[in-house]
Amino acid sequence: MSLENPQRYTVTAALIYANGPIHIGHLAGCYLPADIYVRYLRATGKDVAFISGTDEHGVPITIKAKKEGVTPQEVVDKYYTQIKQSFEDFGISFDIYSRTSNQIHHETSQEFFLNLYNKRHFTEETTEQYYDDVAKQFLADRYIVGVCPVCGNENAYGDQCERCGSTLSPTELKEPLRSMLSGSKPILKATKNWYLPLDRMQPEIETYVNSHTEWKTNVFGQCQSWLKEGLRPRAMTRDLDWGIKVPLPDTDGKVLYVWFDAPIGYISMTKEWAAEQGRDWELYWKDKDTKLVHFIGKDNIVFHCIIFPAMLMNEGSLILADNVPANEFMNLEGGKISTSRNWAVWLHEYLDEMPGKEDVLRYVLAANAPETKDSEFTWKDFQNRNNSELVGIFGNFVNRAVVLTQKFCDGEVPAKCDLTEYDQQVLNELAQFPDRIGQAISQYRFREALAHLMDLSRLGNKYLADTEPWKVIKTDPMRVNTILNIALQITANLSIVCEPFLPFTAVKLRNMLNTDKLNLPHTGWINAGRFDLLPEGHELGEVALLFEKLEDSVIEKQIQKLHESKRMNELATKEVPAIKQEITYDDFAKLDIRIGTIVEAERVPKSDKLLKLKVDDGLQQRQILSGIAKHFGPEELIGKQVTFLANLAPRKMMGLESQGMILMAEDRDGSLALLPPHKPVWNGGTVS
Ligand code: 2FM
Ligand code: ZN
Repeated sequence: MSLENPQRYTVTAALIYANGPIHIGHLAGCYLPADIYVRYLRATGKDVAFISGTDEHGVPITIKAKKEGVTPQEVVDKYYTQIKQSFEDFGISFDIYSRTSNQIHHETSQEFFLNLYNKRHFTEETTEQYYDDVAKQFLADRYIVGVCPVCGNENAYGDQCERCGSTLSPTELKEPLRSMLSGSKPILKATKNWYLPLDRMQPEIETYVNSHTEWKTNVFGQCQSWLKEGLRPRAMTRDLDWGIKVPLPDTDGKVLYVWFDAPIGYISMTKEWAAEQGRDWELYWKDKDTKLVHFIGKDNIVFHCIIFPAMLMNEGSLILADNVPANEFMNLEGGKISTSRNWAVWLHEYLDEMPGKEDVLRYVLAANAPETKDSEFTWKDFQNRNNSELVGIFGNFVNRAVVLTQKFCDGEVPAKCDLTEYDQQVLNELAQFPDRIGQAISQYRFREALAHLMDLSRLGNKYLADTEPWKVIKTDPMRVNTILNIALQITANLSIVCEPFLPFTAVKLRNMLNTDKLNLPHTGWINAGRFDLLPEGHELGEVALLFEKLEDSVIEKQIQKLHESKRMNELATKEVPAIKQEITYDDFAKLDIRIGTIVEAERVPKSDKLLKLKVDDGLQQRQILSGIAKHFGPEELIGKQVTFLANLAPRKMMGLESQGMILMAEDRDGSLALLPPHKPVWNGGTVS
């Protein structure tokens, strides 16, 4: 059950790890819907605290620091600044964007922990954890490397195999295990930690979740499957040297679990904001009439719907989330967005290349948000939506309304005369849009809300197309006044209801309509739907272009850039393959490796891989088939000395016999190189 018509809202958006820049998937999945929701609430006069910031603790930060050879503090300082800037650039209108490294957050988290500790809500458990005896440190799952039980990858991590994507636990890894810190073999060592006994809290958590059947089905369903499996105690402290110190004696080397402190960040950041604003933070976290909403991505559901509520229940004085409208993921050009593979559209890069197009991205991401299932961003779709929807519908209508007013009415809002039945019908329809859009937003159906917004532009376009003021002007200028008055009232309404989605465009529209001159609180949603927003005689501002067409070349450049940066990343991050299993000299001596000269080379018909080579081996000209046609043209091979395996059993390929194998070296980018001797030697010369 949801709160009825609350006047105060605490809206949070996930505290993203400060270990990398942000991309379109983050915006579409969490921050854009949150911003649309909050902008709408503000426009309806609600009291809102919109809270977010960076999560600066936990293993993901230490891993990044290790990779970059810098300190964790340097990592979080760099990315906090960059992430905050990206959100600002895209108009995500947080009331505060803070960080979990702030003193107030450390204090709030430690107090919270002590509160639960003193009320005996934790159990103390001693368990055996992997320990690096050389680095003298317990090892987070991510720091343990071993063989993947699923695909055999010899470099799988204790939490996940990056080759096959399997989620793992360190005990599932096959030997040999090694520590990422020192390379030594981890040993098991006893350690004490404090656990939240979620198993004991299952009935209360079930009651809470089950009282929210209105939650999105993806969220409710995931909660039910966790509950069905049965909740298990979870450690709220960890043996790690980066994070918030456990506020208990004799706990050196232990910090609060990052998922314990991160959601408390919502509270500590509200405190920080309230102090700056001279407000009372408790109203936003303790008043039963405040509605708490968490916007997150789907990987965070269990933490916000089960673990954090359990913490809050134990604390006792704080409100629980009324809703957690988590989204699914957005894919990109047919693949999963991946930071490690550099398959992403980065926000800080987008604006360098598409200056002034913040709203285009906001529009495309909202129109395609992964609300109920994973969705897909493609640059072609971006272009189509820009050209046919933003330029073709929204921009086209506004432009016609304003330009025709400049032309026929000296840029002043003309007077309405007798309304026709059709005019009245259009105004009646107009009146229904704000509610329709608002309803969809308040029920977290942002795609639908945006579709209604576009339908309002369509209504305006159709009205102008049907009434044809550019023709009527010749015969009935009074009628044109009425038509343009109505078109301008629709435009003024658009400037209000588009604001949650397209805030930059809303500003341009208000400037064009010169609404600051009007003594009307007319950015308020309450006024939307009216058709007297612009009084007769009101002078419009300058006409500005809202959107411009995107040419194919701009889009193709982006697609190329995506593929190129992925390729560069693969080159930079490709690892040298592990050395194969040991062999004896006798094993090696069985191989008869020799030097020969390629004397003939041609393609094998119907094969795009095979070349048919004649190799002079000093005794005869032997035929060798080699799968290198994609790397070399036949003509460039003739006359080249190569190394080949002479005693490989003959094999048939495409009906032809191959008597040996040409040896090649593979470069990092997958290209191949022949292995000629460093000075010409006689054909048949042996390699040993
Ligand atoms: O997934 C993440 O990036 C987490 N840092 C989100 C934390 S949300 C909240 F709990 F703070
Ligand atoms: Zn694997």
